[in-house]
Amino acid sequence: MEQNLAFNFFDFIDEPQFPGRRELQSDAVHVWRRSLVAAPTTIERVSYVLSDQERERAARFRVEHARNAFALTRSALRLLLAAYLDQSPQSVRFRLAEYGKPHLDPTHDLHFNVSHTEGLALLVFANRRRVGIDVEKIHSQPDALKLAHRFFSETERQQLENVPAQELPAAFFRCWSRKEAYIKARGEGLSLPLHEFDVAVEPAPTQILLATRPDPNEARRWMLRDVPVPPGYVAAAAVFTG
Ligand SMILES: CC(C)(COP(=O)(O)OP(=O)(O)OC[C@H]1O[C@@H](n2cnc3c(N)ncnc32)[C@H](O)[C@@H]1OP(=O)(O)O)[C@@H](O)C(=O)NCCC(=O)NCCS
Repeated sequence: MEQNLAFNFFDFIDEPQFPGRRELQSDAVHVWRRSLVAAPTTIERVSYVLSDQERERAARFRVEHARNAFALTRSALRLLLAAYLDQSPQSVRFRLAEYGKPHLDPTHDLHFNVSHTEGLALLVFANRRRVGIDVEKIHSQPDALKLAHRFFSETERQQLENVPAQELPAAFFRCWSRKEAYIKARGEGLSLPLHEFDVAVEPAPTQILLATRPDPNEARRWMLRDVPVPPGYVAAAAVFTG
């Protein structure tokens, strides 16, 4: 069913005290961009909201930028969930679904998903509808066509083969982020085969989720759209529309 969903984009700003309650209407989708470039003092300051388990998980990352990305993204997630749920960030409890997708206790209507890459995290929120988000940093990928051949659908591979060489990295990661956002919204991990659905590859198509198999009607139940991000990145969000 086609629905009029309003997408709102916000930049997450570090403040000593995160502003209070936030409303999320049933026809709205909120997407937050969070810079992962932060001073050590900021990382220390926001980490107070993390649970003991999350602190332990952060400490297990050997690479500093991965550790910081986790701490900054998870603390932003806790602060935003607290604002939507009107409770303290420390009291938010996560559960993990079968393929590892974090979610809230089913008594809550609020759905969310996060993605982080070098320098940038995205967080998406909606009420009573599954959501997925993915951000990728564009970089040179000499094996782009080989990877597309191995993992993407026939339609996507053909589209990518017609892209001029200098535009291939952006097109490849655009396709990747759109596919990943849909997979993350479905929450089934790679048990959902990447070749069983087609996304558009070009920059601003009228429709992004082009086809789903074996059920062709699935494509009409999802809204897949690009998320505005700084130059050098590509991002997409997927939302269940019913
Ligand atoms: C989690 C997964 C779904 C995406 O991982 P990723 O792209 O490396 O990482 P992202 O930053 O976009 O997302 C990670 C976040 O997604 C969430 N997540 C974890 N498992 C998830 C799942 N099954 N579904 C949706 N979200 C999930 C978590 O919040 C995680 O953040 P955290 O580790 O800080 O808690 C990964 O397990 C996966 O299977 N990816 C498929 C990889 C692939 O080959 N893609 C092909 C390109 S189309």
